[in-house]
Amino acid sequence: MKDIAKKGLGTRSIHGGQMKPNAFGALATPIFQTSTFTFGTAEQARRCFALEEAGYVYSRAGNPTLTVAEEKIALLEQGEAALATSSGMGAISSVLWTFLSAGDHVISDKTLYGCTFELLNHHMKRFGVEVSFVDSADPEAVKNALRPETRIIYLESPANPNLKVVDLAEIARLGHENGNTLTVVDNTFATPYAQTPLTLGCDIVVHSATKYINGHGDLLAGFVVGKKELVDQVRVIGLKDMTGAVLPPMEAYLIIRGLKTFEIRMERICATAMKVAEYLSRHPKVDVVHYPGLPSHPGYAIAKKQMRSFGPMMGFELKGGLEAGKKLLDSVELCALAVSLGDAETLIQHPASMTHATYTPEERKAADIAEGLIRLSVGLENAEDIIADLEQALSKV
Ligand SMILES: Cc1ncc(COP(=O)(O)O)c(C=O)c1O
Repeated sequence: MKDIAKKGLGTRSIHGGQMKPNAFGALATPIFQTSTFTFGTAEQARRCFALEEAGYVYSRAGNPTLTVAEEKIALLEQGEAALATSSGMGAISSVLWTFLSAGDHVISDKTLYGCTFELLNHHMKRFGVEVSFVDSADPEAVKNALRPETRIIYLESPANPNLKVVDLAEIARLGHENGNTLTVVDNTFATPYAQTPLTLGCDIVVHSATKYINGHGDLLAGFVVGKKELVDQVRVIGLKDMTGAVLPPMEAYLIIRGLKTFEIRMERICATAMKVAEYLSRHPKVDVVHYPGLPSHPGYAIAKKQMRSFGPMMGFELKGGLEAGKKLLDSVELCALAVSLGDAETLIQHPASMTHATYTPEERKAADIAEGLIRLSVGLENAEDIIADLEQALSKV
């Protein structure tokens, strides 16, 4: 489609990257359930392997169904190219393995999804990569931690699970000023509906597409987005040769299907999230609500500047602390007690004992992850029903 990049988000997510024409004129994207691709001649095979001719050779290096999903995500994130992976961790590890070598240095925010923290905090050391954990909401802390060998600044904004907001344009600027430093942002919580870090100067966006991008809680997937030159390197090195974290074609099809409703899902969910955050912030048993859309949130001004919407995720703490939080989790009926996020169903969980149990209590304290913090992933149910469920559960606390 002509000028697809200039169309609205809904149009891009439906029409972007579609094969033209699809086999037999099929409207829906065909699922190319194949591991390998045949060549007409030995010379054509040679040319494809030598990258002298475009074409698919083997599904670990590319597959037409995945290409459609990749082009859609690139269009949504306003990046030159995207790469699909079999999970969010597949995307994150493929990026890190591509760009890091022994002797390199990484600056990471202290507050991260638990498995990303585990990867950066424990496993990187084994390969000779040093990681400094800082509070990147304070750009001075990032500036002071930069070294000539800093290859990556890694962060989430809003961060999992406490919704910390980071000034992405400022951090990317510091990285570029340092020279060869890439700013990598996990945009899972915001989604490209609410925020596009590449347009703020960041170099690479990673996603757990398991979440709101797919939106239906029925698969695991990830994406890497950025300049074509960088994404190509991740495809060839991190994905093809190192992790092999390839997305199956059926999963790519389901993402393409889920994306058809991406904009309307996110419109509804973000509006509901605002209502739920406001409700919780007024409740006498709630101590604090972590939602970037509330003026009381420390990152509100930056969120307003860099986000188009305040997003679907929030955290909150009860005055009764951890025990009250557990009671609440045991009492919800509509909200599902489960990790993950971004499903049609509202999901509620306790980071300290679930998603962020990979942190020690001291590490959680340093990362401002309160022991009693509850994380809420707002779903597609009606706002009044989610609020009524929280109300009845809070009445039992
Ligand atoms: C912010 C964030 N990034 C990455 C991941 C990892 O994604 P996946 O479970 O698809 O590997 C998660 C999972 O919860 C997450 O919340």
